[in-house]
Amino acid sequence: MSKKFYVTTAIDYLNGEPHLGHAYEKIITDGIARAHKSLGEEVFYLTGLDEHGLKVQQAAQAKGMEPKEYCDELSQSWKAFAGALQLINNDFIRTTEPRHYAVVSAILQKLWDQGDFYKSSYKGYYSTRAETFLTEDDRQPDGSFDAIYGDVVELEEDNYYFTLSKHQQWLIDHIEANPDFIQPVTRRNEILGFLKNQELKDLCISRPANRLQWGIPLPFDPDYVTYVWFDALINYVSATLSHGDPLVQKILKVQPPEEDAETAAKGLELWPADIHVIGKDIVRFHSVYWPIMLKAMGLPLPKQVLAHGWWQKDGDKMSKTTGNIVDPVAVIEEWGVDAFRFYVTRELSIGPDGNWTDEGFQARYDAELANGLGNLVNRSLSMLKRYRKSETPAVSNELESLATETITQVKAAYQDNQLQKALQLTWAFITKINQYIDETAPFKIAKDPEQAGRLDEILYNLVESCRILAVLIWPIIPGTAQKIFDQLQIEGTPATLAELKWGGISAGHVTGKPSPLFPRKETAK
Ligand code: MSP
Repeated sequence: MSKKFYVTTAIDYLNGEPHLGHAYEKIITDGIARAHKSLGEEVFYLTGLDEHGLKVQQAAQAKGMEPKEYCDELSQSWKAFAGALQLINNDFIRTTEPRHYAVVSAILQKLWDQGDFYKSSYKGYYSTRAETFLTEDDRQPDGSFDAIYGDVVELEEDNYYFTLSKHQQWLIDHIEANPDFIQPVTRRNEILGFLKNQELKDLCISRPANRLQWGIPLPFDPDYVTYVWFDALINYVSATLSHGDPLVQKILKVQPPEEDAETAAKGLELWPADIHVIGKDIVRFHSVYWPIMLKAMGLPLPKQVLAHGWWQKDGDKMSKTTGNIVDPVAVIEEWGVDAFRFYVTRELSIGPDGNWTDEGFQARYDAELANGLGNLVNRSLSMLKRYRKSETPAVSNELESLATETITQVKAAYQDNQLQKALQLTWAFITKINQYIDETAPFKIAKDPEQAGRLDEILYNLVESCRILAVLIWPIIPGTAQKIFDQLQIEGTPATLAELKWGGISAGHVTGKPSPLFPRKETAK
């Protein structure tokens, strides 16, 4: 068995309902997973939930529930959300599962035995709301702390610390030797700047259980629970245990829990992850703390940390309290999941921030989906039906070189996880084929029986281009790709980028009934 292409999202805090930011991250990760699958790789896609820590404990309390009961209930709607986005995730991890406890405990014990942790007392200002100690640097000019920290109290507390600074130069060297390790380059530069300009402070990895109960106990001191980030990052490894990853079992000397015996028997080779897709706010956790944790455990590092930007709405931060939000479920119900997946992927490359506007969404729906792609497929199949009773004429190669060039470029973009670019190239192809229809005017030629041969050529080029398009779009809008295959009456999946080339539809193939892929909508202005 060979190692799979292993891609992950951040795991979301379970303190509310999913929003546009969560949806975005899952969709682009899905695009990456599907693209690699279509390119012929074996893919494993992990997403899930971060269920421990104060935020979740407080959210449960606010509902008058026990944290576990609260998490069990709410996690169902997050799993359903992954389904509504049509993700092809192979697993959905929750940090309250036995497999995660087993791996977190094994890692803590191993690092403790190795002498990577020490206990120390710390006196300082503590924000319960942010669950963090503050320093003098956090004070505002007037001496107070920002309101986001809530009540700040002076506290002296013993905790366990993880020694980081001895790994600092090693990490700098690793980032410098591996330019793709942190992407995009702006984030890489930020992290290098941070690492080169100051000595890393040791990471506090515990919280006293009398202050925070909702966490994984330290195996060597039950008076403490594990700090939520130390717990959460490990999900990427603990998921692999339940699929029997041989490397992880060997290095961490931990067995999959009984309940995972069946999946573990498969022995999938997953670690190291190929890509951790995350938002720009949590790059430091993933490209400083996480690599050092892995180094201490003796596991290889992920190949890439890929940081996307943040969405705003109408130029402002999204916020529940002001009502300035985009509800992904409502958008999907109104416009369909593919329209939603298309907009967020097409609007932004992976890196910069985005701004959602309803007008922008509708403009892309109308121009690119309904008029661009939808119209092309509809016109092509309707003409074939009207002029040739839906029977494909002899193979013609007029658009072959354009298609071949597009296929090569789109494949390269997908290989490089440049989803927006893949869509731009695909839509440039759509525009050219729509122009081809206007220029060759099959609807005029059809009136002249002497030009029947020419009409055959044009119709072949159109249906074959539609087939190729279905394969090109599958990673991002898989439902539409499948609908095109259904209307073309082609069996099987459009997930076949690896072998995609001109000439797949044979002469005599009968296509099905055309129906609009993206119905036009009248919206109240
Ligand atoms: N639980 C931590 C992650 C632990 S990963 C080991 C966390 N959770 S979160 O729910 O706050 O955020 C989950 C992901 O959603 C993060 O990658 C974050 O950047 C992303 N987003 C949250 N709001 C966002 C936007 N407005 N726009 C785009 N992505 C955003 O952090």
